[in-house]
Amino acid sequence: MNSPNPFDVIKADVLNVIEESPQIKTFQLKLEKPLKFETGQFVELSVPGIGEAPFTPSSSHYQDPFEMDVSIMNAGFVTGKVHKVKAGDILGIRGPYGKGYPLDKFKGKDVLLLGGGVGLAPLRCLLLTLIHDIDDYKSITVCFGARSPEDMIYKNFFLEWDKIDKIHLMTCVDKIPDGEKWDGKVGVVPILLDDIKIDPKNAVSIVCGPPIMMKFGTFALVDKGFKDENIYLSMEKKMYCGFGQCRHCVIGEYYACKDGPVFSYDMIKGAEKIWE
Ligand SMILES: Cc1cc2nc3c(=O)[nH]c(=O)nc-3n(C[C@H](O)[C@H](O)[C@H](O)COP(=O)(O)OP(=O)(O)OC[C@H]3O[C@@H](n4cnc5c(N)ncnc54)[C@H](O)[C@@H]3O)c2cc1C
Ligand code: FES
Repeated sequence: MNSPNPFDVIKADVLNVIEESPQIKTFQLKLEKPLKFETGQFVELSVPGIGEAPFTPSSSHYQDPFEMDVSIMNAGFVTGKVHKVKAGDILGIRGPYGKGYPLDKFKGKDVLLLGGGVGLAPLRCLLLTLIHDIDDYKSITVCFGARSPEDMIYKNFFLEWDKIDKIHLMTCVDKIPDGEKWDGKVGVVPILLDDIKIDPKNAVSIVCGPPIMMKFGTFALVDKGFKDENIYLSMEKKMYCGFGQCRHCVIGEYYACKDGPVFSYDMIKGAEKIWE
């Protein structure tokens, strides 16, 4: 955390709001003070007078520390209020909290990102960070899924990422409702693993998405031959304080906020209710 008081809130001007899908918007923020974070860490974002919730920035950790993008799904009370926010409004940010992705362990390896729904937000932050140092990695395979074509976020970014030699991009949707167009695969995210061209023994995988996708995605990676210690999970447990004081986010012997939110599968696989 880069602030001496963990409750310090930084004022954030909303510069722009991008409608990524019917349920997900990206908020481009200009911060009053710089906030440096590492990819995989999270912040608490507040709507003045309403409340706050944890989110992982979706912009690169190399971005100007006065700027941050956060992509947010309308899931309930606070996120519903955030979705009403417009350019020119003010939000608050505190953090960053937790530990990020162990990028040193990814170097020289094939890196596989497996994500679904709004789980693409933390993975976009990671991917932009990996792209910045792309020579450090052997290859990057991106397997992204959404419920339907209109739920697929960051479509314009996909076109740019697809042009990068070391990136192999694969997408799927659960279903194609009448009137929507989709040329790619149809099915749940783990089906994309049937087509990957990397050797799981020299690869790491990072998984982020809804609990059910994380569960079956992780099982599919293990079946493919990925070692438990090379599968990294971004655990979105319910959080309040964000820094190890309230015990709301316990996973086995760990606090998701302080020891995570990123865990390797071998660390938490024996803990109760990890997929809830
Ligand atoms: C470390 C971390 C990073 C996250 N990053 C993102 C992100 O980048 N983008 C994004 O859209 N969401 C992210 N989330 C999830 C986000 O925090 C929740 O969607 C949000 O807290 C819901 O608040 P609410 O008041 O709108 O919902 P509520 O009205 O409190 O609840 C609505 C529904 O959301 C569920 N919910 C509440 N809190 C969480 C939670 N922490 N995780 C999952 N489900 C929850 C509730 O069980 C309920 O079903 C992240 C969560 C964590 C812990
Ligand atoms: S959110 Fe308070 S201990 Fe983790």
